[in-house]
Amino acid sequence: MIKVSLISLGCAKNLVDSEIMVGHLHQAGMKVIPEAELADVVIVNTCSFIDSSKEESIGHILEVHQNKGMKKRRKEQKLIVAGCMAQRFSKDLSNSLHDEVDAFIGLDQVTKVAPIIEAIYAKERGKNGPKEAPVNFIEGKSTYIPDYDTPRFRLTPAHFAYVKIAEGCNHPCTFCIIPQIRGRHRSRTVDSVVQEARQLVREGVKELNLISQDTTFFGMDTWEQRPNPRTPVDSSRGTALTTLLRELNAIEGDFWIRLLYTHPAHWSDELIKTIAECPKVARYIDIPLQHISDNMLARMQRETSGDYIRDLIKRIRAGIPGIAVRTTFIVGFPGETDADVAELCEFIKATKFERLGVFRYSQEEGTRGAKMPDQIAPKVKEARWHKLMALQQEIAGQVSKSYVGQTLKVLVEEPGVARGEADAPDIDGRVYVPRELPVGEFVDVKITGYQDYDLLALPKGEQPAEFKVAKQAQ
Ligand code: F3S
Repeated sequence: MIKVSLISLGCAKNLVDSEIMVGHLHQAGMKVIPEAELADVVIVNTCSFIDSSKEESIGHILEVHQNKGMKKRRKEQKLIVAGCMAQRFSKDLSNSLHDEVDAFIGLDQVTKVAPIIEAIYAKERGKNGPKEAPVNFIEGKSTYIPDYDTPRFRLTPAHFAYVKIAEGCNHPCTFCIIPQIRGRHRSRTVDSVVQEARQLVREGVKELNLISQDTTFFGMDTWEQRPNPRTPVDSSRGTALTTLLRELNAIEGDFWIRLLYTHPAHWSDELIKTIAECPKVARYIDIPLQHISDNMLARMQRETSGDYIRDLIKRIRAGIPGIAVRTTFIVGFPGETDADVAELCEFIKATKFERLGVFRYSQEEGTRGAKMPDQIAPKVKEARWHKLMALQQEIAGQVSKSYVGQTLKVLVEEPGVARGEADAPDIDGRVYVPRELPVGEFVDVKITGYQDYDLLALPKGEQPAEFKVAKQAQ
């Protein structure tokens, strides 16, 4: 039996691709094991978002090749590079990783991974000569989208799942390479997503995290592709996501639906109303805004303006009481001035985002931003990043403090650690709870204190073990 080990890097969308690959490997009778050094085949599912993700991906490939545990990689072991970096750079990498890699597969080969492994083995059988160049299985642009019955083995804890409702992206953001990697936006049908969700809830999943490059564009691509542009506007334009949320909300059971990766340009009052009326949709939205100054939004081609964003956030807060808003900003994009940064700081102070991340702009080969004049010096980017992070740390403290005394419904992640409705997995803060609470279940807890981004739901004066360890180390 062929033993395969898979290393999954990058975002939740890549993780779903890894899950699909593992599902197909199981279906083909192959054994999936965690120890790379013991596997016949190692797949590294890579990320290529920014330079540091590419470096991390290459680092993992080299580490597998050198096979740390056994000093030298077993000669017969095969190494397959999958995912975003393979999809985008396989031709260049074929030369630079000639000795390390046996094959490259892209985003559309995730369901064909087992026959590809068989093919590599068949090709190598009885061969003794020098190693040949890696085989490149990638064929053109990515168009694949999974369905509800696509074999898949979940790699997340049993109580939460990622549900990929669409793939690809049609936005022109000048800093981002992802549309060139993942292709044009294509949505699944409402029915396909609902069938998958029903199955997950039957399996005991307590949180469905809806993901894609832009979840608010869900269903809009089918409208764009209508055969005759003069056909009256299809009712699915802009309403597919609201239909989906209402149908998911109607599934019986106690679970959260979490909407991740929404683009501000496609929010509507109907979506705000739908979230407000669907109690299973978490009072949490992830809406990357990237900037607030019109100068920056235009250069980034964000299809929004400062006024539009300010008004949208007001409408969201007014329409969905208790909503926690998560956003991300980029500092140091070409042409950013001190005045742009000052405007952003004012906006952050005024809006008090419950959750906020800041990225330093990374000049990515192949993007329009990379070729723009007025690139910002690294130390200026760094200073701007620190400024925003310090500002948000203060706000996060105030936000955390506002929870003290409240009773929150939380989902227990592991002994002593839970997440609230305002905390997405792997991104946001944690709620420290008594260790005896059941893992994978919802419980109501009273918030007794906080530490920066994290909340405490412990008897007064008690601290989580890791806080004590951190204190001692100081
Ligand atoms: Fe995700 Fe990295 Fe690809 S962020 S979409 S795995 S480039």
